[in-house]
Parts: sequence; structure tokens; C-alpha cells
Amino acid sequence: MSGSIIIRLTDVSFAYEGADERAVKGVSFEVKQGEFLSIIGHNGSGKSTLAKMLNGLLLPVEGVVEVNGAVTVDEERIWDVRQTVGMVFQNPDNQFVAPTVEDDIAFGMENLGVPPEEMEVRIMDALEKVHMTAYRQAEPNRLSGGQKQRVAIAGILAIRPAVLVLDEATAMLDPRGRREVLDVVHRMNRELGMTVIQITHYLEETLASDRIIVIDNGSKVGEGMPSEVYQRVDWLRSLGLDVPFASGLQDRLQKKGLSFPGLEMTTEGVLDRLWTSALKK
Ligand SMILES: Nc1ncnc2c1ncn2[C@@H]1O[C@H](COP(=O)(O)OP(=O)(O)O)[C@@H](O)[C@H]1O
Ligand SMILES: [Mg+2]
Repeated sequence: MSGSIIIRLTDVSFAYEGADERAVKGVSFEVKQGEFLSIIGHNGSGKSTLAKMLNGLLLPVEGVVEVNGAVTVDEERIWDVRQTVGMVFQNPDNQFVAPTVEDDIAFGMENLGVPPEEMEVRIMDALEKVHMTAYRQAEPNRLSGGQKQRVAIAGILAIRPAVLVLDEATAMLDPRGRREVLDVVHRMNRELGMTVIQITHYLEETLASDRIIVIDNGSKVGEGMPSEVYQRVDWLRSLGLDVPFASGLQDRLQKKGLSFPGLEMTTEGVLDRLWTSALKK
């Protein structure tokens, strides 16, 4: 994490037309450059609405979204905003417009006026980063779910955004596809310093985040490091969320009087602690 703030939300609210209740209610938070942030919350809590406000696809009815110093309501800066914040959505099948992988990646760049020679370089570079070089000429429709999402990420990477937003991008994938996509995203974060905002309901996928924001019924109700957030097991369950396996396990042990300080994030970690305490007896 390098520290400067790339996204800032100040008291942001959103209402869909005709809806009685606001989908997002007075949410504020900042995202630092290079940060890996996860946003969790049960279905319908407003996560996707929030995500779409991060690149100006939706504009707040109240409050301000700032991206790299530009407010998203400023029509003159909206292309800067869109170029800064790339989005990958849930359904891998709805993200392709061209007959081949390379044409698809080129499409996004054409819209930005990237010169053809430069496009060539960026296509190869993006495909290499998501380990899909061999599929350059492939038909997107023939790829597996995990491969499709990696190509979708390549299309975004070619645009060179500073921030990658993934809105349940792994939700329709099998475990292997999910792992492939997550590996790529964590590598982008580590090696390129790309800021990542990940929305997911697979809580295990948030354990390696720098920070987690918890959304409930349109409001931000919690925020902290995974080791802080996942200690609050009863609270998370009261919000309709499950907890990572290791947290649930420690919670059960604690309620049986077997506790140790701090939170282990992995099952192996919990087992190690148990062995250690058993051997001490
Ligand atoms: N296009 C829409 N029109 C009207 N209401 C919507 C629309 N999209 C979402 N909503 C409503 O806004 C609320 C938040 O939805 P959403 O942001 O999709 O939540 P999440 O992504 O957390 O599941 C829900 O009550 C949902 O029904
Ligand atoms: Mg959603």
C-alpha cells in the first residue's frame, strides 16, 4: 500500500427511480492507491449500486464520489474516471462484443483512441498477465468460465486502469475458475500495485485483503482488517452473512471455553494452536 487516496466517497446516497427506499445510504470511505479492499454484504444490500458509482455508471443523488481528484458528476472528467476505474461484472458471458479474444481486448482500446501498434503491445501484455496468451485467436464463447473472466480482466488491463473493481466476478465460476481469477487479481495487486476493490460473497476470498467494508441495507456498518472483522462472528451472522470456516471454528471453540488470543485466518492455523495448547497440558 503506498498511501495516496485514489477514491473518496463522502456521504454518498443513491435511489433508483420509483423505489421507496434508497439503495445506498450515506456511505463514506476512502481507498488508498495499491490497496486490496473487499466489500461484503448480503444480497440486495447495495454493493453493486455502490460499485457502479465508483466509475460514474451511476451518479449519487446525494454526496460526492471522487476518483483521482475528479468528481464523477463532472461530465468533462467522466472519461478520466472511466479510464481510472475498470469494472468486471458477474456474468462472464455478457462481457464480450467481438468474435475473438484479441478483437475483444482491442475493442475497449479503440474506444480510447489507442494507436494500432500500441494496441498490439498491450494485447500481448494483458494476455500474458492473465496467462491466456495461447488463446489470443480463440472464440470467447468457447472458453471456460474462469478463462472468460480472465479475458475480461485482460480487456480491462489493456486500458491500464489504476483501479480494478470486481463485482462478484467469481460468483458464476467453479472453484478452479474462482482460484484462477483470484490468483490473477492478487498478482496484479502485488506486482503492478493495482488498486483492487473486490465485492464477493465468498468470504474465504476476502481473507487476504488489506481491509474489508461491511454493507447492510445500503449503509456501511463495519470496516477493518480481516482479522478484526471476522472476530465478530455473531454480529456477521446477525447481518445474514456467513463467516470464514476458521473464524466459525474458533468461535465454537471459544464458546466451549477453548480460546487463544488473536484470530487465526486458516484452518491449519487453528489446528496448530490446538496442538500447541494440547501439548502444553
Ligand atoms: N435497476 C434497479 N432498479 C430498481 N431497484 C434496483 C435496481 N438494481 C438494484 N435495485 C435494488 O437496490 C437494492 C440494492 O441492490 P444491489 O446494489 O444490486 O445489491 P447487491 O449488489 O448488494 O445485491 C436492492 O433492494 C435492489 O432490489
Ligand atoms: Mg450485486
